[in-house]
Parts: sequence; C-alpha cells; structure tokens
Amino acid sequence: MENFNYYAPTQVIFGRRTEEQTGELVRAQGCQRVLVHYGSGSVKKSGLLDRIFRSLDEAGVSYICLGGVVPNPRLSLVYEGINLCKREGVDFILAVGGGSVIDSAKAIGYGVTNEGDVWDFYEKKRQASGCLPVGVVLTISAAGSEMSDSSVITNENRCLKRGYSSNYARARFAVMNPELTMTLPKYQTASGCVDIMMHTMERYFNQCENMELTDGISEHLIRTVMKNARILMDEPDNYEARAEVMWAGSISHNGLTGCGTDGGDWACHQLEHELGGMFDVAHGAGLAAVWGSWARYVMDARPERFAGFAVNVMGVEAGKNEMETAIKGVEAMEAFYKALEMPVCIRDLGIDPAEKELRELAEKCSHFRRRTVGCVKKLDVNDIYQIYKNALTYEENGDQKDPHRPEKV
Ligand code: NZQ
Ligand code: ZN
Repeated sequence: MENFNYYAPTQVIFGRRTEEQTGELVRAQGCQRVLVHYGSGSVKKSGLLDRIFRSLDEAGVSYICLGGVVPNPRLSLVYEGINLCKREGVDFILAVGGGSVIDSAKAIGYGVTNEGDVWDFYEKKRQASGCLPVGVVLTISAAGSEMSDSSVITNENRCLKRGYSSNYARARFAVMNPELTMTLPKYQTASGCVDIMMHTMERYFNQCENMELTDGISEHLIRTVMKNARILMDEPDNYEARAEVMWAGSISHNGLTGCGTDGGDWACHQLEHELGGMFDVAHGAGLAAVWGSWARYVMDARPERFAGFAVNVMGVEAGKNEMETAIKGVEAMEAFYKALEMPVCIRDLGIDPAEKELRELAEKCSHFRRRTVGCVKKLDVNDIYQIYKNALTYEENGDQKDPHRPEKV
C-alpha cells in the first residue's frame, strides 16, 4: 500500500427533508451575506429554491441570488458572480444544484478571495491562496463535487474545459436528500451513474499492487451503483436506489477509493473534458463514449488488473487467458452502458467530429504536447488521437478497433 493523506472535511447531512436544515447550517457558519447560486431552472420548477429561501429567512440569513449556471459551467458567469459578490460583500456561497453549480460556486469563491484573473488557476499558471466558504444542497448524484477538492470550468471563448483542485474549495457542508434527485431526466440519472462509477474506476486502474481493502470498497461501490442504476431506469422514484447512488457519488470522489493507490489513471476524464469543452456534451455520457476505446488501448499494460475487474466487478467468467477475460469485462461494461441508454462511442453522443477536430481534441488534451495523460499507459498526443479515433464509432464486438481480440474461428 502506498502512503496517503486522506482529507474529507465536509459535513454531510443526508436523508429525507434535510434541506429544511439549510438555513441553520448556513447561520452556523457565522457569515454576514450569502450568495445563493443555482442552475437553469430545475430548482425553481421543483419548488426547492423557494424552500431554501424560506429556510434562510427563518434562520435570519441575509442573501442575494445568482442563477443561470449551465452544464459545463461557463467562465463568463463566474466573472459575473465574482463582481456581484465583491459589490455585495458576500462572504459565503450556497450552491443549490449539481456539479456545475458547485464548481461555479467554487470558482467564484476563488475569484473573490484572490487578486487577478481566476482563469489563471485553471490554466495552472499560479496557485490560489484561499476560497470563500461554500455550502451545498445537492440535486443530482454525479460529479461528487460536494465532497471533492475540484472545480471544472469551461472557458467558452476558447472552447477549453479545465479543472483546478485545492483543499480551500472543499464544501463546508453538503445537504443530500435523495428525494431531490427524483425529478432528474433519465439521461441525467444515467450519465450521473456513469460518472460516479468512473471516479472509482479511474482510481482503480493504476500501477499498484496490494490494496485489498481499497479494492474491495471500490469493487463493491461500482457494483452497487450498477445495480441501483438499473433499478432507477424503471423506478425513478425508488428512494433506496436514489439513496445508494447519492452516497456512492460522494464517497466515489472524496478520495476514499484512492487511499493507498498511486492516484490512478484519469485519462478518460482528460479525454472527456476536451469533448465537453468543444462539443458541450454531458460529462458522464462523454466518459461512457471513450471508456471502451481507452480500455482496449491500454489493457495490455495491465491485463491482470483488467481481468480482475472483469471477474470481480462485471461478474464475467474467466476466459482462457487474462487478455480474453479483460476484453469480456470491457464488453460487459459496454453492454451495461447500452442498457442505460448511454453512448459507447463518440457518434452516439450525437456529434461527429471531423478528422481535423479529432486532431484538435488530441492537441488540447495533451496541452499542446506539453504533457502525457494516464498512468496505466502514459498517453502522448498520438495515443490520445488514436483513442479518440477508435472511439468515433462502435462496431459490434469491437472487432475492428480491438488489437488484442483473439482471432475468430
Ligand atoms: O441547471 P438545471 O436546470 O438545474 O438542470 C440541471 C442540468 O441541466 C439538471 N438537474 C440537476 N438537478 C436536477 C436537474 N434536473 C431535474 N431535477 C434535478 N434534481 O441536470 C443537468 C446537469 O447538471 P450538472 O450540474 O451539470 O450535472 P453534474 O453534477 O453531472 O455536473 C457536471 C459538471 O461537473 C464536472 C463536469 O465536468 C461537468 O462540468 N465535474 C466536476 C467534478 C468535481 N468538481 O469534482 C468532477 C467530475 O469528474 C466532473 O468533471
Ligand atoms: Zn467525472
């Protein structure tokens, strides 16, 4: 087991009607003026926003509002939020929504606390020295931003989606009522489940040995999400299934499933972020679209790990050798994505990048050839291009794109 530093300071208030406690939770932070930040309308339509306002009023909290966050949250709204907070003397941000709202809140928090252009942090030009405190009322189980140290923002002028991580932005509290996620469209529920699984899979595919406990937690977490995601496709109001998925979403990305590892691979997230930046696709769906291509491209570097995943997580029977088992596992995951009506290739996302755009995606993902991504295999710009290219279409059984598939007899 590798050495590790596990830090998960967010207070979690989980269960039915917990949003009624929001006012008291905010007041306990000792702040003077709060920004309530939210998305494009779901929280108004569901009546949640009104309930939050009531709770803040009852607690005597002074607040202002800024809505309009969109998926793949935009830098322009972050700038607007920073100016608003400075003007109004805001000292606490309450994010009511999903990963996009929370990430936008964190970015505004960085911009208020630090001088200069907040985008510098996302470009890794410099480090933040603080962030306004952020609290969360979560409405979608997916990104895990309610307990993670990350914030992912899209610079719409440059079609660039970039993440920045620091412990300053960890939410002070996260209110999680699984009932709030029952209004989600099926596509968002499925996309969220893929993202949750991927946060653990990215950590699971690593270059380490001997992580018995972490592997066990990870494998069980992924199986739990798969089981309950299937239930939610038919029963969106199933509280227990919503609750399992919601809790999995937080612990899948709060560091727990990375303890004792080298941190994991994360190539698929980097690949997806460029797709999101250029084509504005839903994050989880974008991950599903590239995962099979990535797995086939790198699995020969760690066939035993992929074979273990196939048997322990996907429940497939071992094949004649590790590679055969590994491929069966990938196919089983793709079948699961299809069952969720998730994409298994880029064209399934409803986009069709031209050759020039695939090259551009690869250039951006490699930070214009200044970095490699992934650790199972370190991927340079050419590898990245090839993975995008292979991910463009999906041939049944993966015959044409699978360099390791045994000959058919
Ligand atoms: O804007 P509204 O109207 O609220 O609609 C949202 C949005 O259209 C809707 N929605 C959310 N809760 C709902 C609901 N609709 C009905 N009922 C509800 N209860 O769902 C749509 C998606 O919302 P979004 O916040 O974008 O989803 P998600 O949580 O998946 O966040 C995605 C963003 O998080 C980033 C992604 O890259 C993407 O930008 N990520 C952030 C991470 C982090 N900070 O740790 C890690 C992740 O890997 C990810 O990169
Ligand atoms: Zn993710």
